[in-house]
Amino acid sequence: MTKKVHIRTFGCQMNQADTEIIASLLQDEGYVMTDSEDSADLVILNTCAVRENAVEKIMNTLNNLKGKRRLRPGLLVGVIGCVPQYYREKMFGMSDGIDFLAGPDTYRQLPVLIENAEQGIRGANLAFAPEETYTGVEPVRTCSISAFVPVMRGCNNRCAFCVVPFTRGKERSRPVKSVIDEVERLADAGYREITLLGQNVNSYFDNDSSCGFPELLERAGLAAGGVRIRFTTSHPKDISESLVRVISAHDNICNTIHLPVQSGSTRMLKLMNRGHSREEYLEKIAMIRRCIAGVTISTDLIAGFCGETEEDHGDTLSMMEEVRFDFSYMFYYSVRPGTYAAKHLPDDVPEKVKKRRLEEIITLQNRISGELHAAEVGHVVEVLAESESKRSSDMLMGRTGTNRVVVFNRNGCSPGDLVDVRIKSATSATLVGSPE
Ligand code: SAM
Ligand code: SF4
Ligand code: F3S
Repeated sequence: MTKKVHIRTFGCQMNQADTEIIASLLQDEGYVMTDSEDSADLVILNTCAVRENAVEKIMNTLNNLKGKRRLRPGLLVGVIGCVPQYYREKMFGMSDGIDFLAGPDTYRQLPVLIENAEQGIRGANLAFAPEETYTGVEPVRTCSISAFVPVMRGCNNRCAFCVVPFTRGKERSRPVKSVIDEVERLADAGYREITLLGQNVNSYFDNDSSCGFPELLERAGLAAGGVRIRFTTSHPKDISESLVRVISAHDNICNTIHLPVQSGSTRMLKLMNRGHSREEYLEKIAMIRRCIAGVTISTDLIAGFCGETEEDHGDTLSMMEEVRFDFSYMFYYSVRPGTYAAKHLPDDVPEKVKKRRLEEIITLQNRISGELHAAEVGHVVEVLAESESKRSSDMLMGRTGTNRVVVFNRNGCSPGDLVDVRIKSATSATLVGSPE
């Protein structure tokens, strides 16, 4: 009898891409994917450990699933990805509703773990496989317009606050040929947008062909003419003028860069071990803006890291004013046991202060995004329609090449269309308009 599997994905785009790889590996073994948790024989949680509240979410989900297991004996639950890799076998003690554990490098072993679990044997495979890139696995894609293509895995940086090097292991890159072949297949299949993914995408390096990220991006752009090419995430210390020149030279490579800065204070950046100062970051921004007309820049920010003073926080606010980020992912600092910061730096900013500083950062970002969006009113922008808008089936939602969200009157257009939209109004989150 075919077994139905439901995979729930938490965390970053790397995890979303991994879910598509896991679906492919399991389909090859005869499993059928289902969107419905209630009809599944097996529920897999693909998890994120980056902040404490991400882990709490997993624990709550496991608690809810325990009730379902009581009602439906035989329902199996697997926890995979960054949370088990981080807590290791200790995870079995954190919830009695787990049948197996697997880390990001051991998904090829999932069928064995599942088979054992079916026989009542609880197992964990949390080995690191420093060569594993899942090359050769054709992802089962859930969207027919946009596709993720992971090009590298892992992270060799040691930002003081971050668990990713512990959960994802050492950096390794996919062979350039396998990436470009996949990009070509996606373009041939009619995909309109491809995002090259990696925790540190600009450290991509294929040793065999000596191909670095600027060359890979250029080859992807050429291999998929007319298809939008994006990439994420870039590290400020690795972003080079040669990469920026590739972006500006190719129309289908989107004019937007996600460049996490974390803090505007050089003192904090040093404590965070980010490998660059405020001034060096601002120089990179100036270089990017010199080379790419109309580029948008987005970022990640952390409020209340260890030892952060009001002056350091003020540096973050002034940095935001100076760069005018298009949008930001904003967090307050969450201690992650085992990281350098957890071991060596006191978490001395009170939670109330962290939250107040985060509020100030969010308020400022909303104001800046609102102003940048208001400046678009009256302009025509090219939008790739992604889906019906949540509010009304008469409206479509899509994005500009610069990654701005646009909602517009449908006027006979369909998801997947590239549409010229005249912007009529704007909020800090969305541009609203009508096709020209
Ligand atoms: N590799 C990317 C980079 O270097 O910018 C980011 C990867 S991380 C998964 C995504 C974001 O989560 C980080 O940029 C940071 O802002 C945030 N983050 C990571 N660890 C955190 C922590 N302990 N507390 C709060 N935010 C954290
Ligand atoms: Fe984490 Fe830093 Fe690596 Fe990004 S670069 S994944 S923040 S350690
Ligand atoms: Fe989370 Fe792992 Fe991504 S910790 S942010 S799912 S790499």
